[in-house]
Amino acid sequence: MSQISDFQRGRIRSVLEASPLMPVITIEHLAEAVPLCQALFDGGIGVMEITLRTEHGLKAIERVREAIPEAWVGAGTVTCVSQYREAVAAGAQFIVTPGVTDELLKFALTAEVPLLPGISTASELMLGYGLGYREFKFFPAEVAGGTSALKAFGGPFPDVTFCPTGGIRRNTAKDYLSLRNVQTVGGSWLTPADAIANKDWAAIVDIARDSLSEIS
Ligand code: 3PG
Repeated sequence: MSQISDFQRGRIRSVLEASPLMPVITIEHLAEAVPLCQALFDGGIGVMEITLRTEHGLKAIERVREAIPEAWVGAGTVTCVSQYREAVAAGAQFIVTPGVTDELLKFALTAEVPLLPGISTASELMLGYGLGYREFKFFPAEVAGGTSALKAFGGPFPDVTFCPTGGIRRNTAKDYLSLRNVQTVGGSWLTPADAIANKDWAAIVDIARDSLSEIS
């Protein structure tokens, strides 16, 4: 059976190691994409997941890649292979899925950019584990058992690293990051809708900075 390559694993590890926090970004107006991501970057966050939840996701990835070449920009909420291909074509440097399908896990083995597959159960994890995946998103983290579930996964899967997202906030990020098997935590708390609506980019810089200092 084909397995994930060392190169693919190395790439996804580099993404996770580049930042303890990964904003999960949904772009409602395309013009917001670059200033929002620039503010996160200026606040110290160099990895961002731009979701395909709105029609602007792909174009936003393209623009942010061009505007902030030093940042790692990934595509989130990818649910099928055709979206995976589109996200790669738009310039995404990594792909995040909320869950796993056999088709996505296998497609990613030979894709140009690596996959961070989302799982919430041991069975889902094992679908990826068998193909050599050792880095997973844990989603939706809070309702799927939070830090207790991650500690429990550490028993049978001591070599797996997680990026939990879903329900995590600034004041709980540290609890997750204190776990041995958590490298990065993600969430939308870093990009509050009111600050974006008001184009208050300075507030986003502050949220990024404060969130980073809270976990250090
Ligand atoms: C995700 O896709 O990771 C989540 O939507 C992020 O969850 P949050 O909005 O509760 O942070």
